[in-house]
Amino acid sequence: MDISLDIQCCLCHVMSQPQPSILDRIFNVLIYIYAIVITRVMFLSFFLETIRFLIAFGLSLITAVFRCAISPSFKDISEDIILITGGGRGIGRLLAVEFAKHRPKQIVLWGRSEEPLKATSKAVQCHNVACTYMVCDVSDKKQVYEKAASIRSQLGVVTILVNNAGVVFGDDVLDSKDDDIVETLNVNALSHFWTVRAFLGDMKNRGRGHIVCMASLLSFLPLPGAADYCASKAAVASFAENLRLEVRRDGRSDIRVTSVHPYLINTDMFAGLGNRLEWLLPALDKDYVAERTVKAVLTNQDLLVMPRIFYFFILLKWILPTESHLLACQFLGQDTAMETHHRRIKNK
Ligand SMILES: NC(=O)c1ccc[n+]([C@@H]2O[C@H](COP(=O)([O-])OP(=O)(O)OC[C@H]3O[C@@H](n4cnc5c(N)ncnc54)[C@H](OP(=O)(O)O)[C@@H]3O)[C@@H](O)[C@H]2O)c1
Repeated sequence: MDISLDIQCCLCHVMSQPQPSILDRIFNVLIYIYAIVITRVMFLSFFLETIRFLIAFGLSLITAVFRCAISPSFKDISEDIILITGGGRGIGRLLAVEFAKHRPKQIVLWGRSEEPLKATSKAVQCHNVACTYMVCDVSDKKQVYEKAASIRSQLGVVTILVNNAGVVFGDDVLDSKDDDIVETLNVNALSHFWTVRAFLGDMKNRGRGHIVCMASLLSFLPLPGAADYCASKAAVASFAENLRLEVRRDGRSDIRVTSVHPYLINTDMFAGLGNRLEWLLPALDKDYVAERTVKAVLTNQDLLVMPRIFYFFILLKWILPTESHLLACQFLGQDTAMETHHRRIKNK
């Protein structure tokens, strides 16, 4: 459009001459034809781009429907080195064992405490898969970069990165300690930036990579008493979404990003949480969460919400008026659920 504006200015200038010469007139006509052609070409290319977008958009919807009906085949991970943060306990340990069943080249575990990491490492080795561990606090970017360099030099390129480490303290905004808020955001959200910055370049050079961001349903829904945790998980959801678009923009279909959003899981993290709908929506089984997460990676699924009914609840949240949403949260006991959280009671 800018080009045709320039042409119009040029035309006005020629037309404003008192007595245009024959050369001016020819120039005038040529410019006019050029302007028309340029405008038409631009319109045509936008039109073609729109058609191409609509076809691709429609195909993506059809593919998604087929994915629900027919489970895609698993990708081969026999050449992959997998790094799992927070691999010592909870979901991290189960993810390591579940990945081991699919025979990757190597699994590396990061965590703060050595003993649980050693135990997970033994459990993985029972599946005849090489497994090493490193004590690494993912909230400390210096440690992340140093340990990443030592993996690179000793083992090779990490091609599957599972950002799983997480913490929750469970206090209201005013009762929280400053340090707890900072730690929550550092471990749960900022660490994803450090690990991805440490490994994504290698993945791109290798032409193969998968980044898993362990988020939560609380990326989309509130839980008073865990505002810092919810904010950190919302940040993870946004991080994953942005990263996915960045690699797509760069034409890197060889790099995948999966964000995982589970509802309450029966690990220690949210032990004691009040759940008014326990009879209807019991906590997810941790083995199931690990199995579904690994399956999402093996089938290149971008977004995983567990259980599926929450896809609908999340949509509902955005279309309901705020007042109706708040009333629903109170009815479901979301506002008081953290009052019985074990860590919160212990801290009192
Ligand atoms: N449990 C749930 O209901 C639930 C629901 C949705 C999403 N999630 C998410 O799922 C992930 C795993 O949760 P989980 O239930 O397995 O929790 P968990 O049992 O408490 O385990 C947390 C893991 O994170 C590690 N970790 C914590 N801080 C770390 C740090 N600074 N550096 C390195 N590792 C650190 C811990 O290692 P150490 O043992 O060394 O401390 C531990 O292995 C978390 O991201 C969590 O937010 C959990």
